[in-house]
Amino acid sequence: MAFQNIIVEEQDGIAILQFNRPNALNALNLELLGELGQALDEMMASKTIRVLILTGGGDKAFVAGADISEIASLNPLQAKAFSAKGHEVLSKLSDLPFPVIAAVNGYALGGGSEVTLACDFAYASDKAVFGLPEITLGIIPGFGGTQTLARLIGTSRAKELIFTGQNITADKALEYGMVNKVVPHDQLMEEVKKTAKIIASRGKASLHLAKQTVQQGMQTDLKTGYLLEEEGFALTVTNEDAREGTSAFLEKRKANFTGELQ
Ligand code: COA
Repeated sequence: MAFQNIIVEEQDGIAILQFNRPNALNALNLELLGELGQALDEMMASKTIRVLILTGGGDKAFVAGADISEIASLNPLQAKAFSAKGHEVLSKLSDLPFPVIAAVNGYALGGGSEVTLACDFAYASDKAVFGLPEITLGIIPGFGGTQTLARLIGTSRAKELIFTGQNITADKALEYGMVNKVVPHDQLMEEVKKTAKIIASRGKASLHLAKQTVQQGMQTDLKTGYLLEEEGFALTVTNEDAREGTSAFLEKRKANFTGELQ
């Protein structure tokens, strides 16, 4: 499927989705959100993808937010639908059955930070800038930021960012735990691909269940989380990848995981 606002490619189990509206710093308009949703639906059904990398086209931005020119003319009902569309698409991203890494190569403001927060983890270029500047426009974050940022970095830090609307550097985002690593700008994709390659060598079922168990566990109490883990663990040990992984260890060779989700 050809898209106008995103570019999707895949090689050796690693998919890369690039936001591609460089003239608008990859701002998320409805058309882009629609295409993103469609691409994620296709990926959800993929038999080959093991890890997805998101990044921004052009040399300045990951995503500079929701498209302000579209927001400006919304009435309350349309705004609610716009926000719901963002939640729907970013939930699809979080729910993919394989890990998603954000390669944050520049401005990640508003919706850009919210996309990053919907990924499993992020690496940032030393030129990346994060923030939720919606308050400077007289609005509040609408694609999950009030919820996901507070859950990840704590309410006090999240409130400070949301109330001031001030941007933070990649190093500050690292300190806050919004990104796992900051690397020189020109090494970002290389670093992300290195980690993606390691993940892609792991088994599909165990990646899926590991992701799902962490995510669902974070929404519940510890005892329920342990129950989820027991169920996930039981499902992985009966998967063919578990036979391959344990045999490979005992035979002192590298495991070759080819199992499918069952
Ligand atoms: N929505 C729509 N268009 C956007 C946009 C957004 N969120 N962010 C940037 N653009 C557009 C600009 O309008 C400009 O278009 P133009 O060339 O047709 O005038 C183009 O992208 C380049 O942006 P510009 O502001 O000229 O670049 P800059 O380097 O001077 O500043 C930013 C970069 C990111 C600091 C600035 O663009 C910005 O503050 N953007 C909005 C961020 C925001 O508030 N996001 C949350 C939205 S809810």
